[in-house]
Amino acid sequence: MSDADDDPGLDAAYALKTPDDSRRLYARWAGTYDDDFAGAQDYRLPDAVARAYVAAGGEGPVLDVGAGTGLLGRYLADAGIGPVDGTDISPEMLAVAAGKRVYRRLFEGDVTGRLEVADATYAGVTSSGTFTCGHVGPEAIHELLRLAAPGALFVLSVNAAHWGPAGFAATFAALGDRIEGLELPAVPIYGDGGDPAHRDDRALLATFRKA
Ligand SMILES: C[S@@+](CC[C@H](N)C(=O)[O-])C[C@H]1O[C@@H](n2cnc3c(N)ncnc32)[C@H](O)[C@@H]1O
Repeated sequence: MSDADDDPGLDAAYALKTPDDSRRLYARWAGTYDDDFAGAQDYRLPDAVARAYVAAGGEGPVLDVGAGTGLLGRYLADAGIGPVDGTDISPEMLAVAAGKRVYRRLFEGDVTGRLEVADATYAGVTSSGTFTCGHVGPEAIHELLRLAAPGALFVLSVNAAHWGPAGFAATFAALGDRIEGLELPAVPIYGDGGDPAHRDDRALLATFRKA
């Protein structure tokens, strides 16, 4: 997506191609995302990721990747998980997340490159809605493994329509014994209150531990 006049929204988001496209789109979307997207579309994915993280025994400190406006961070904090840090390519989205007052640290970063985090920092890594069409592919998993401590729990949503074309299966297979216990439960991204055109959209919750 490169036309700065396009309305932000789900279809525009799925059509993104580069990190700069993401910066531009989310700069314009940040102020209305929670109401006009998450609320109006009955967006369930952050809740599903947080529930899966808790159910698998997740603990803090945890990094929320592509934290956006902080919806997942709020669910994690409500479930008693903390501290929660968040990173995102969009400073405008992070400014909204800061207003939720659930994150210990929020920092700008492109997860397809190198994040400003020391090796083996986190006991867990979560992500909701960021490994999706037009956004982030499986190459980012290597950087996330770097900043996770041995035994760290990962729960990363991957849009089911993105899984095959982006090559997630090959990336996970190539990780071999660097990860343990990979499970891929499928969950609905939206509830019945959203756009019927996206009611059947699914995400795989890639759940595993760093060996
Ligand atoms: C669909 S939103 C999801 C936000 C939030 N996790 C949620 O579930 O509401 C995708 C987020 O990924 C971020 N993003 C896109 N590309 C990124 C990249 N290369 N590195 C870090 N964040 C990125 C966007 O800025 C946006 O906040």
